Amino acid sequence: MNYKTLNEQLLSLSEASRNWMPLLANASALIYQTMEGLNWAGFYLVKDDSLLLGPFQGKTACVCIPKGKGVCGSAYEKDEVQRVEDVHKFPGHIACDSASNSEIVIPIHHQDEVVAVLDIDSPLFSRFSVEDEEGLKCFVKTLEEIIEW
Ligand code: SME
Repeated sequence: MNYKTLNEQLLSLSEASRNWMPLLANASALIYQTMEGLNWAGFYLVKDDSLLLGPFQGKTACVCIPKGKGVCGSAYEKDEVQRVEDVHKFPGHIACDSASNSEIVIPIHHQDEVVAVLDIDSPLFSRFSVEDEEGLKCFVKTLEEIIEW
């Protein structure tokens, strides 16, 4: 997986608009069509201390996730990347799509606060490596620098 190219593609997508809506919509499509072995890629946005479903690719998903609940809610509450090799062993995991077996969630910041998370699911166990985590953190950093909320 070439994360340098993924970053360049994100930057070129942002040339038309840096508004969060089209940028997150295209970012989810970019990840979903570029990374192999995924069944869901998208964003949850912080609203009233919970996570609200944002732009995504994949099957319909849970609309609202409380802070601290599941993989996404934990990433939000702890402000930490969650890289989960087997979601069935994760306490409180929310199964939106029963096909999901591994997951990675990366917090997104604005003015030092978590304002959203990037959530990616796979039907494969242990789909996401340390290298994927580093590459996706870099992708999110670029997003944080260019996005207009
Ligand atoms: N599995 C996630 C919920 C979101 S879906 O995967 C799209 C979780 O436990 O937070």
